[in-house]
Amino acid sequence: MLQIENLHAEIEGSEILKGLGLEVNKGEIHAIMGPNGSGKSTLSNVLMGHPRYEVTDGSITFEGEDVMELEADERAKMGMFLAFQYPSEVPGVSVANFLRTAVNSVREKELSPMEMYRLLQEKMSVMQMDPKFAERYLNEGFSGGEKKRNEILQMLMLDPRLAIMDETDSGLDIDALQVVAKGVNELRGPEFSAVIITHYQRILRYIEPDRVHVMLDGRIVTSGDKELANQLEERGYDWVREEYGSTTQG
Ligand SMILES: Nc1ncnc2c1ncn2[C@@H]1O[C@H](COP(=O)(O)OP(=O)(O)OP(=O)(O)O)[C@@H](O)[C@H]1O
Ligand SMILES: [Mg+2]
Repeated sequence: MLQIENLHAEIEGSEILKGLGLEVNKGEIHAIMGPNGSGKSTLSNVLMGHPRYEVTDGSITFEGEDVMELEADERAKMGMFLAFQYPSEVPGVSVANFLRTAVNSVREKELSPMEMYRLLQEKMSVMQMDPKFAERYLNEGFSGGEKKRNEILQMLMLDPRLAIMDETDSGLDIDALQVVAKGVNELRGPEFSAVIITHYQRILRYIEPDRVHVMLDGRIVTSGDKELANQLEERGYDWVREEYGSTTQG
């Protein structure tokens, strides 16, 4: 589904990703953990084709296709989805309007207003969201948890083949965490893969990962099963730095 090889990427001249490799098979859910500043959000942005980042080496292949030259909207059309760490406010655009535009832009054929309405009702009920929410301006005045829940609603509406979730669990109360996990588990299946970036093993109790990776200084330095997440929670990252941290750059 997703194959990343020797990925190097920089922003404003500083190299953040330094030879990252990752392979996610169809139907798998992977977790990426790693200390602040190790490049996790950079990776998600680069995967989605954010124009501020420059890829200087390596490759990204999605379903066998090289996506490096594709714009963000083209990647979305292919079925890639990114839930942001800090969703932004879009005053003047309602949730319903935004979702209508987003859904229709990734579909071959537009949904009728009735189909769209039904889809929205269905997905909002999965996310246990008040239907009134759909009329509010996107993220404006939303609480932190509401923003995250709304990102998952968007994901359910778009029905992606690969979801990249950047700290979607941060700042969620226990109920919201379970609702978000339910949203992801709804999509889970042989045709859906996800990369979940998280600082806490907690969400992985609800969404069981097939693989767990540790990112350090722009690279994935070690991988394992969910036991690795428990180990990190217990022991922190110092042992990872000692074992895998490099003093030499490049
Ligand atoms: N414009 C920029 N110029 C230079 N360095 C930058 C720029 N933008 C980001 N960085 C640096 O890139 C590094 C990686 O940042 P990134 O947001 O990817 O980390 P992260 O792993 O997501 O961290 P966190 O766990 O805190 O979310 C950081 O050291 C950050 O300061
Ligand atoms: Mg981040």
